[in-house]
Amino acid sequence: MNPNQALWEKGDFTRIAASVRASGEAFVDQLGITEGLEVLDLGCGDGTTALPEARRGAKVLGVDIARNLVEAGTKRAADEGLDNLRFQQGDACELTDLANDRFDLVVSVFGAMFAPRPFDVAKEMVRVTRPGGRIVMGNWIPGDPTLVAQILKISSAYSPPPPEGFISPVTWGVVDNVVERFTGAGVAEDNITCEPDTFVFEAPVSPTEYLTWFRDYYGPTMNAFEAAASKGRAAELFAELDALFKAQNTSGSTDTTAIPATYLRVNVDA
Ligand SMILES: C[S@@+](CC[C@H](N)C(=O)[O-])C[C@H]1O[C@@H](n2cnc3c(N)ncnc32)[C@H](O)[C@@H]1O
Repeated sequence: MNPNQALWEKGDFTRIAASVRASGEAFVDQLGITEGLEVLDLGCGDGTTALPEARRGAKVLGVDIARNLVEAGTKRAADEGLDNLRFQQGDACELTDLANDRFDLVVSVFGAMFAPRPFDVAKEMVRVTRPGGRIVMGNWIPGDPTLVAQILKISSAYSPPPPEGFISPVTWGVVDNVVERFTGAGVAEDNITCEPDTFVFEAPVSPTEYLTWFRDYYGPTMNAFEAAASKGRAAELFAELDALFKAQNTSGSTDTTAIPATYLRVNVDA
């Protein structure tokens, strides 16, 4: 199987997604969604941003490479009676059955950044956006001192080196790369803006218990623990991450978790 798909079908990302719903809503609040807007939510997971987009009246297609997340999103939409939201499996590198210029708005929150061929991803996002439409991405930033970049940094020290030619997803969090990829897809540089923003990971459990959700359900962290365990270092990895989660907890209580993480918000006028 495609390793990108296998990574995200591993575990159960819905368990982590449940802890970022408020930030997903806040992200969508900034999109200026209007009734009937045609929206593609790419790398949509189980609909953290796709559901809020549909609740605001947009006609939303959620596309994700992981079949279990497409199924989970479909169920969430049905449970809410949102008949203006549909999910389907697809790869951001090659949106084969989506027509040119089809969408007013393409949104990808920590989604398309994980596809392996970033230049193809930029081309595909531009291709399916109508002239005058918009692309909005949320991308984690490499080397940032906040949660996600630090999880990646700590995990990589326990993991085998990536395969030759691998392009790290967090290169999407560097402005120069964003500009190079979208100008390569035909967008004028002046039409691309990037600014830092914040997502908050919130859970009604201690930071240590919250970390076990990543260890047990989040594909990339599960892989890091498997690699660490093969060298007898799983406890060491857990201790390092536990110290990180505790240090970054801003909830004011040791029994609950609220960890803000900085990302790069990208806006492209197509
Ligand atoms: C960190 S999750 C974010 C999910 C969702 N946007 C959210 O905020 O809850 C990354 C998502 O990107 C999806 N993904 C990874 N590679 C993809 C690709 N090549 N094409 C489409 N989706 C992809 C994963 O399956 C996963 O649902």
